[in-house]
Amino acid sequence: MAKGVLFILCLITLTAALSTAENVDYTFGSTRVRFLGKSPNFQIYPNTSLSSYLQLRFSKFEERDSNDNKVQGHSVESLASADPAWTAGNSTLSDGTNLTYVRMTLNPANRTGFKADCSGNNAGRRMLAAPSSTSTNATVIVTLYFGLDQNTTFPYGLNKTVSVSKGGLKFNVEYSNWPFCNDSNVLGMEIDLLVKGDTAAQSNVSTATDGAQVLSVALGDNTTSNIYFANYAYEAKNGTRNMSVGVSLASNSSKSTVTLRLPNPAPNTTVYYDPTVTVSTENGQGGSAKGIQTTVWSALLATLLSALLLA
Ligand SMILES: *[C@@H]1O[C@H](CO)[C@@H](O)[C@H](O)[C@H]1NC(C)=O
Ligand SMILES: *[C@@H]1O[C@H](CO)[C@@H](O)[C@H](O)[C@H]1NC(C)=O
Ligand SMILES: *[C@@H]1O[C@H](CO)[C@@H](O)[C@H](O)[C@H]1NC(C)=O
Ligand SMILES: *[C@@H]1O[C@H](CO)[C@@H](O)[C@H](O)[C@H]1NC(C)=O
Ligand SMILES: *[C@@H]1O[C@H](CO)[C@@H](O)[C@H](O)[C@H]1NC(C)=O
Ligand SMILES: *[C@@H]1O[C@H](CO)[C@@H](O)[C@H](O)[C@H]1NC(C)=O
Ligand SMILES: *[C@@H]1O[C@H](CO)[C@@H](O)[C@H](O)[C@H]1NC(C)=O
Ligand SMILES: *[C@@H]1O[C@H](CO)[C@@H](O)[C@H](O)[C@H]1NC(C)=O
Ligand SMILES: *[C@@H]1O[C@H](CO)[C@@H](O)[C@H](O)[C@H]1NC(C)=O
Ligand SMILES: *[C@@H]1O[C@H](CO)[C@@H](O)[C@H](O)[C@H]1NC(C)=O
Ligand SMILES: *[C@@H]1O[C@H](CO)[C@@H](O)[C@H](O)[C@H]1NC(C)=O
Ligand SMILES: *[C@@H]1O[C@H](CO)[C@@H](O)[C@H](O)[C@H]1NC(C)=O
Repeated sequence: MAKGVLFILCLITLTAALSTAENVDYTFGSTRVRFLGKSPNFQIYPNTSLSSYLQLRFSKFEERDSNDNKVQGHSVESLASADPAWTAGNSTLSDGTNLTYVRMTLNPANRTGFKADCSGNNAGRRMLAAPSSTSTNATVIVTLYFGLDQNTTFPYGLNKTVSVSKGGLKFNVEYSNWPFCNDSNVLGMEIDLLVKGDTAAQSNVSTATDGAQVLSVALGDNTTSNIYFANYAYEAKNGTRNMSVGVSLASNSSKSTVTLRLPNPAPNTTVYYDPTVTVSTENGQGGSAKGIQTTVWSALLATLLSALLLA
């Protein structure tokens, strides 16, 4: 008995020591992003003087068929072991805006268990120019931009842009040459949401005028985060093909998961998706409703960084 307790205490102490040693904080103005060690977990504090935070976990990518069944061998189930390559740097946009970026590059084929071909699937097999191709150049790139020092815009679609405010964050997902087994298959991407690390984030989903799905998550301290996910993607940053993206939320008492259903771009090979996510916090009745754009962007940033930290 005493031994068991001691063991558990040791375990707790060890765990605490490890996570204390490995937590990494990034603070931008009043927003803090904290990574909980080399795990897929990170927390976003919209306001460092309050205790509330949102915890996100960028969990996996997996191809799904039109019945929503997973395609065997065509998924990266755990970013915790995905070993992506990543780069970070500062850069200046043509309008003079300075920013910092973090980019994660994942080559699924480098993962054991990932198969280029479609054998062993009921989903059927698309006839490829090179039959029984056993290799793939599939690449998934997630880029996060943050620390913008003035309001600016980013291209999203030919002659179109999305605006990001000073201090904001922007995030995009790009993938190429994914070896889809069927033209109607999609690439599912999951993000788990928790509030204060232990409670499933209770989110309300609404639809913005432009069709974006808006997730409103109550964080406590009278703070609400709104995350906007666009419902379309393009075949290139300056693309003209508007392809639909499904956004759904599944929630139970222990977990809330946002799932993006990204398109198969055939006959093109690339997809460029800009969730145009902005996070805002509002003070309750008494306070002034202060939109803090930084917050939502932080959430996305955190997502990206967490994926990177898994390396
Ligand atoms: C952060 O919260 C404190 C305490 O409620 C408040 O005074 C302050 O204005 C908040 N900061 C921002 C940027 O909203
Ligand atoms: C995947 O493997 C290829 C060939 O070994 C290598 O060039 C590439 O950098 C790897 N990708 C990642 C993300 O590590
Ligand atoms: C970007 O610039 C900031 C501020 O000058 C600096 O602290 C940071 O280390 C730089 N980041 C990179 C990746 O160069
Ligand atoms: C961007 O950084 C450069 C060099 O540090 C600086 O001269 C310039 O004023 C900055 N731009 C803005 C918009 O602050
Ligand atoms: C692709 O999926 C559609 C819809 O499920 C199905 O009817 C079709 O047979 C599939 N094609 C192949 C080649 O399996
Ligand atoms: C991957 O890219 C290389 C170099 O561009 C090319 O030679 C090779 O055929 C590609 N492989 C596949 C499976 O597309
Ligand atoms: C995009 O802008 C360019 C340059 O202004 C113009 O020539 C072109 O017609 C525009 N294309 C569309 C689809 O609006
Ligand atoms: C930047 O954008 C914000 C929000 O859209 C706006 O309130 C602010 O006035 C803009 N600032 C400048 C200098 O344009
Ligand atoms: C969701 O909507 C319900 C009913 O309208 C409301 O009671 C709840 O506070 C909302 N939750 C969030 C996170 O906004
Ligand atoms: C939340 O709002 C209520 C009502 O306006 C206020 O009494 C309370 O102090 C606020 N809590 C925080 C943490 O700001
Ligand atoms: C889109 O961008 C690519 C690469 O930057 C360029 O080669 C192409 O001409 C552009 N297309 C249009 C229609 O502007
Ligand atoms: C996408 O595919 C269409 C049809 O094949 C082609 O006309 C277009 O140039 C492609 N777009 C890009 C960005 O490659």
